[in-house]
Amino acid sequence: MKKLIFYSSCLKETQDFARKLASCLNKGDIVFFSGPIGAGKTIMVKEIAKFFGVKDKITSASFSLMKKYFGTKAELYHIDLFRLEEGEMFNLGFEEMLEDETSLILAEWPGAAADFFPKNRLEIEIILQKEDKRKIVLTATTKTYQKMLEKLSKKIKRN
Ligand SMILES: Nc1ncnc2c1ncn2[C@@H]1O[C@H](COP(=O)(O)OP(=O)(O)OP(=O)(O)O)[C@@H](O)[C@H]1O
Ligand SMILES: [Mg+2]
Repeated sequence: MKKLIFYSSCLKETQDFARKLASCLNKGDIVFFSGPIGAGKTIMVKEIAKFFGVKDKITSASFSLMKKYFGTKAELYHIDLFRLEEGEMFNLGFEEMLEDETSLILAEWPGAAADFFPKNRLEIEIILQKEDKRKIVLTATTKTYQKMLEKLSKKIKRN
């Protein structure tokens, strides 16, 4: 399964969905979150972090660009490149993060820096619909994530 589409009708549904997604993620996975301001990218990141036992409050990473969190089940990098300026890409300290193959990487606004990441990743786009509705499109770039999406789709169908 290369794509999975989930329609969320409210905040809670997005959080429930993010929790199910988290239960299908493994250490070292990379997830991109795209979509307009207020789409729900950070909401999903927070839920995933909670699942992996991060007790610290996840704050916006857009000024620091990158923040590392230590969860009981995994370490996690939260990246937000909304404010990334051209030429800044080279001193983000991504090398260290990408060598760290046991940490989860959750990146908001990956756009401009997408090529700096490995191709093996899950790409999520959140599209605003009417009112609180969201269309969440998950795209697997490789077989690893295709299998992950199959697992997730079974979890969603169960309830
Ligand atoms: N179905 C929904 N799913 C997710 N969030 C929703 C939904 N309906 C309403 N919301 C609201 O939308 C907002 C999403 O905020 P969030 O910070 O996650 O956006 P974001 O995509 O990270 O934006 P930014 O680009 O500014 O970082 C929250 O205030 C949340 O309560
Ligand atoms: Mg955000």
